[in-house]
Amino acid sequence: MEIIKTKAAMRAYSEKHGPETGFVATMGYLHEGHLTLVRRALAENARVVVSIFVNPAQFNDPADLEKYPVDLERDTAMLEKEGVHAVFVPARSEVFPEGLPALRLRYEAIMGRLCGRFRPGHFEGVLLIVHNLFQWVRPARAYFGLKDYQQCLLIRKMALDMELSVDVISCPLIREADGLAMSSRNVRLSDIARRQALKISQALFQAEKEIRMGAKTPLQVSALLAVSLQPLEVEYAAVYDAATLAELTDWKGQSGVLVAVAAYVEGVRLIDNIIIS
Ligand code: PAF
Repeated sequence: MEIIKTKAAMRAYSEKHGPETGFVATMGYLHEGHLTLVRRALAENARVVVSIFVNPAQFNDPADLEKYPVDLERDTAMLEKEGVHAVFVPARSEVFPEGLPALRLRYEAIMGRLCGRFRPGHFEGVLLIVHNLFQWVRPARAYFGLKDYQQCLLIRKMALDMELSVDVISCPLIREADGLAMSSRNVRLSDIARRQALKISQALFQAEKEIRMGAKTPLQVSALLAVSLQPLEVEYAAVYDAATLAELTDWKGQSGVLVAVAAYVEGVRLIDNIIIS
């Protein structure tokens, strides 16, 4: 497995190997959710590149950036074992040699909803780095997990609107055996917090059941969701249109239903969702 540290070396690698590359962008501290993306990329592409870069442009809270877990040795060993062909691990000064750029890629309506409402600047930072990673890696296909549903939606839109020649593939959210959505942040949960965090997936499963039974309005389901999540510190929890992320008030005209939650458990911000088509 090649370890690539500069943009120039990444570009040279892409030129040498041609377009049949699958790509998984990560911020490291890999877990089974990332490995699922990597395995799918390996199954569908001649070669696979994984990037590991904790992107400062997407952290609206500097404390959150400082606390983000990092273990490059462990991550590269995991990727080597999977059979990944190259890992792109640029330093911050390599990616942003002149500091964080002022450029902002914005989708006004969608970015004002769910996570975007509570993390100003977050998705602009995500789109900037993903756009640039696509330029350096030049993949045919890029794989993103649907735990970050809003991120997947925005990256797909950006690829379409900017005519980036990459197929953006959204992959299912992966859960622990007890239902907790896998996340690099889960390592920061104490045993007690870990048990409290289960309220999130349980509340979502309950909401899904209610929606499938069809007896309640979206607002009634959202209200039930809020009750099931008590006493967690909830940022948002509701039933949304899966395409526009507008909160649903009735069951007419939506293009898919997304039930999504963001909540803090002992100061750790967790997100989870269920898509009902
Ligand atoms: O989902 C993530 O881990 C990050 O937002 C991404 C896509 C790697 C961009 O930094």
